[in-house]
Amino acid sequence: MADAKAIRTRALSELPAVTTPEELAAWRSTYMGGKGAVTMLLRGLGELAPDQRREAGAAANALRTELEAALKARHAELEQSAMAVLESGSIDVSLPGRHGLVGRLHPITLTIRDMLAALGEMGFQVVEGPEVEWEHYNFDALRIPAHHPSRDTQDTFWIDHPSQQGNILLRTQTSPNQIRFMEDHEPPIRVAVPGRVYRYEATDATHEWMFSQIELLAVDEGINMGHMKGTLTQMAQTLFGRDRPVRFRCHYFPFVEPGAEVDIQCDLCGGEGCRSCGNEGWLEIAGAGMVHREIIENAGYDADRYTGFAAGFGVERIAMLRHGIDDIRHFYANDLRFLRQF
Ligand code: FA5
Repeated sequence: MADAKAIRTRALSELPAVTTPEELAAWRSTYMGGKGAVTMLLRGLGELAPDQRREAGAAANALRTELEAALKARHAELEQSAMAVLESGSIDVSLPGRHGLVGRLHPITLTIRDMLAALGEMGFQVVEGPEVEWEHYNFDALRIPAHHPSRDTQDTFWIDHPSQQGNILLRTQTSPNQIRFMEDHEPPIRVAVPGRVYRYEATDATHEWMFSQIELLAVDEGINMGHMKGTLTQMAQTLFGRDRPVRFRCHYFPFVEPGAEVDIQCDLCGGEGCRSCGNEGWLEIAGAGMVHREIIENAGYDADRYTGFAAGFGVERIAMLRHGIDDIRHFYANDLRFLRQF
């Protein structure tokens, strides 16, 4: 442990070089903070023999008093020199202040908020789930077994973390939250789950390796396809306008039966087919379907009494369509010229 004399020499020699309030605070913490040199010196007194302790204690206390006085004096000097600069007129205090840079919400955050507001009006409660997920929730519990081809379409970022409980991954979809929510809740259920998902795939104008989804799940007595179509049509028309045609196409997802993909009509060609919609005439905005009976049963619900629907919206694609953005990669390129437009 450094002795009082050595600490005094060092502290007092450093003080003249201290010129800003921040440096002064750092100097104070170096010597008199919780782990400062003087504090440690005082704490170490207990370990000394009683006859040494008295003398060393007096020296340490005197040092503390001296350094506190030196700190106060330096503080006063710095204040005085700051006042002198102001009074000399070399700082024009009448100049207008500089504006700090004010941030804004990201276009994807704005789209998610609009979508959740529309869903909130239809009675959906917002919940969130983990982005780092068990393989069980992301695949197995959703009836996507290891050898199933649908795993191929969702190339996965696996987390290198050997665990007895199973493999860990970055979720490829928000659907695991269907299982998570049903595990802990009883019907009636109406939830919307926004969040990021990750897929290990090549990027292009419409594919990112990280993007956002909003999952919907409704489970209750008597829920049928009409409820699903009504809810998703209402969502599409809130986002794209009352007159925008919406189409449901059969599609296979292992966790729903029957399953569908939801398209809106391309507004540029009105369904004829053009470059913007890849000549399809329609643009896909979500996957959906009636919750598979087996999943209802696995949740412990009576499948003869309860039915449900689920859907997963791709948020970036929706934001692209709403704002006429031609490349999904703009969202995460951090180019302020793009971001400032929202
Ligand atoms: C799913 O992820 C299902 N979990 C959706 C679902 C939920 C079906 C509930 C049934 C019931 P899909 O892989 O098609 O499905 O993705 C859903 C949406 O995410 C797509 O419609 C699309 O808008 C968006 N999407 C998919 N891949 C990408 C990508 N690489 N980049 C950006 N958006 C994507």
